[in-house]
Amino acid sequence: MDRTSTTSPSPAAEPLIGASRPGAEWWRTAVIYQIYPRSFADASGDGIGDLPGITSRLDDLVSLGVDAVWLSPFYPSPQNDAGYDVADYCDVDPLFGTLADFDALLAGAHDRGIRMIVDLVPNHSSDQHAWFQAALAAAPGSPERGRYMFQDGRGASGELPPNNWESVFGGPAWTRVPPASREDNGQWYLHLFDSTQPDFDWSNPEVHEEFRRILRFWLDRGVDGFRVDVAHGLVKTDGLPDHLPDRDAVSLGGHDEAPYWGQEGVHDIYRDWHRVLAEYDGDRALCAEAWLPTVDRTAEWVRPDEMHQAFNFPYLMTQWRASAVRDVISESLRAFPAVGAPATWVLSNHDVVRHASRLALTAESPQGHGIGPGSPGRPIAAVGLRRARAATAVMLALPGSAYLYQGEELGLPEVVELPDEVRRDPTWFRTDGARYGRDGCRVPIPWTADAPAYGFSPTGAAWLPQPAEWAALSRSAQEEDPESTLWLYRTLLAVRRAEGLGAGALAWIDGYGADAIAFRNGHVTVIANAGTAPVALPAGTVLASSGPLTGAELPVDTAVWLVAD
Ligand code: BGC
Repeated sequence: MDRTSTTSPSPAAEPLIGASRPGAEWWRTAVIYQIYPRSFADASGDGIGDLPGITSRLDDLVSLGVDAVWLSPFYPSPQNDAGYDVADYCDVDPLFGTLADFDALLAGAHDRGIRMIVDLVPNHSSDQHAWFQAALAAAPGSPERGRYMFQDGRGASGELPPNNWESVFGGPAWTRVPPASREDNGQWYLHLFDSTQPDFDWSNPEVHEEFRRILRFWLDRGVDGFRVDVAHGLVKTDGLPDHLPDRDAVSLGGHDEAPYWGQEGVHDIYRDWHRVLAEYDGDRALCAEAWLPTVDRTAEWVRPDEMHQAFNFPYLMTQWRASAVRDVISESLRAFPAVGAPATWVLSNHDVVRHASRLALTAESPQGHGIGPGSPGRPIAAVGLRRARAATAVMLALPGSAYLYQGEELGLPEVVELPDEVRRDPTWFRTDGARYGRDGCRVPIPWTADAPAYGFSPTGAAWLPQPAEWAALSRSAQEEDPESTLWLYRTLLAVRRAEGLGAGALAWIDGYGADAIAFRNGHVTVIANAGTAPVALPAGTVLASSGPLTGAELPVDTAVWLVAD
């Protein structure tokens, strides 16, 4: 361990905030690692990751030190939105394996003390779902159509969509279907996302019943909970009034008060699901993917009888500016505990520009829009990685639960140079290439520097090409380097666990200047320098540092964890 000795001001502690309740359930403090199955590890060699591939890598998750895994969708799907277009909620897509492979993966995780939550996609299904196929074959007004949002069009012969809503991925949110009979002139169905993702009608009790069945199917198999996709979107305002999204809003909600985001009725759905989970032992949990304008609004999803966690997207969207980071942390540690929930923290996922690139962007890159060869303000890789390591060191010292996205422990950047022809994100197609979308954060993981596809698959196949520079970022290369991002994550996670930081409380510390993020959690002092000049360090033993320290100074874009001597 390094030792620093300086004489900087003795900082005054402020009151503790965000203390977790005693008797905490696992999800209150857990570090949860997101696996995006198609890009994690491919055992079959077809270039698409699969469940046996994940099972073969569970020991790597143990050595990383995470508590739980969130598995993005692996259900049967035409894969138009990488599995977020579900054709059958209670099976496994042959691309990824079988139900037996799922059971083996879950058992393997549980044997190692790792919990597993799975993705649930209740806002929409695939158009290949049996219900939607039946709806297409049935007449307007039929019970089959009543499970989705079918409407007659406007105009003399219904030739105009029912309203002006736009799809999150670009283009109109309505698609017209062929007439089912001679009397019918062709209705329209709503899809807030791709046209192959029709929205369910959550005013229909049959939809509620079906999702209770789906929850029970996976709970009975032993999953520890669910990450709920587009949790803010299920209920639409009566009458479906016209609305055009705020162009400055992030694409999945942001500060946009749309008639399809965050409607009051969604909360009853989650109260119902809360009761379903409570029938099971083992502290099963629900986590809301709800893109909302503020931390306070997000906290409405985690009131005591609703979900257990909600992603803290305001935190993810915060730029690397000390005052902004301090503010969102303070707000979060006020708002979530105020309703009895843990704060959560997240910096990357499969929908956003990886934080090793995003934190060095000069231009704003709203969620989901992506960056590519023609984007302005390319991130400088070294700056992005330095900031990402510092931001992660701040995040993993915070009380509450943190989410990691596969590959961030290797410091993977967004892949900017993907050729147009390999892109798969519907955002790219629906905007005619105006938005690059999310493929750049979904490139398969490099495991082994000198293996085909860097060990992602035994054949060298990979559904998206991996950049040549990724040999140096591979896990095998980082394994050998104690200064690597992999070892930084391992150290932070080990100290977080040993010091009980997830169950701790934060006290801000003054005395390090406006550009520092400085706090204490337990007896660990955390100082991050988000400014442009070095910050003097106090005396103490360094437990972890996101980058090299220069004597008794904390360089820019660096964070340190230390304890007083
Ligand atoms: C998921 C996305 C997906 C969308 C539609 C999201 O928020 O995280 O990956 O495209 O929902 O299901």
